Amino acid sequence: MSIVFLNDAYLPMEEAKISPMDRGFLFGDGIYEVIPSYDGQLVGFAPHIERMNNGMKEIGIHFDWSTEQWRQVANTLIEKNEGANLGIYLHVSRGTDSKRFHAYPDDVAPTVFAFAFDIPAAPVADKSVAKGYKVSTTRDLRWERCHIKSTALLGNVMHFQQGYEQGANETLLFNANNELTEASACNAYIVKDGVIATPPLDNQILPGITRFMLLDILKKEGSLKVEERVVTMDEVRNADEVWVTSSSKEVAPVIEVDGKPVGNGQVGDVWQAAQALYSAGKHNY
Ligand code: PDD
Repeated sequence: MSIVFLNDAYLPMEEAKISPMDRGFLFGDGIYEVIPSYDGQLVGFAPHIERMNNGMKEIGIHFDWSTEQWRQVANTLIEKNEGANLGIYLHVSRGTDSKRFHAYPDDVAPTVFAFAFDIPAAPVADKSVAKGYKVSTTRDLRWERCHIKSTALLGNVMHFQQGYEQGANETLLFNANNELTEASACNAYIVKDGVIATPPLDNQILPGITRFMLLDILKKEGSLKVEERVVTMDEVRNADEVWVTSSSKEVAPVIEVDGKPVGNGQVGDVWQAAQALYSAGKHNY
């Protein structure tokens, strides 16, 4: 049985109820986070909460729990739910209004929801056992505020579904200039001649916490070169390696783009080196 947190109580998932007038339900008007936990250890907790606070500030949700208050909820969910590898989902919607009206109401209390779900074990940095991902590609048709981790995910869901229906694990997205943005639920990278490149942070992509930690770890360690710059569709098609990152996948190697092998079609050496550094450094955030 899954125990969830709703507003101020822990209760079985089946008993957790919200009003249909909740603006999260009616408008997707909310902010969320997914934070991984392995053997009870949360990864990147503080930066995740910082991003959530930035998102709430940007959309005018006034909710000011401290990182420690959030950590207590996350740790209680870890205690109350079984499983060594858990994703902790945190969600704050603007709250329940008495009417359906687009403008932000100023007298409603935010709805707070959190639950734990199973995620795969953290990847092992060994290319002989790593799962190679297959991705499809499409034009990025989401909105121009992709830096906000909004619960309004229909654009992402439709892009994910497009790839899923073709048997792909993810969908890589390109803007109108055929420049890589990200994937439907991951950040994206290429490797060419040993150099890693990933699109810069702007309104077209989510500032991924895995991306932040990976780049920080790689830059501090120094043996792999990383560039944050525009990456073109041609570069993706001619890359030696392609990766996607997210909290529950860490660094995931892509071996096929639109049915064609990436590089030699095998998981690459640079991936193995990068995932090894990430595995060693991820608990320092
Ligand atoms: N997805 N880009 C998008 C559009 C995402 O939805 C995500 C995360 C990422 C990676 O961010 P992070 O490294 O902070 O997990 C990039 C989450 C896991 C989800 O929606 O389930």
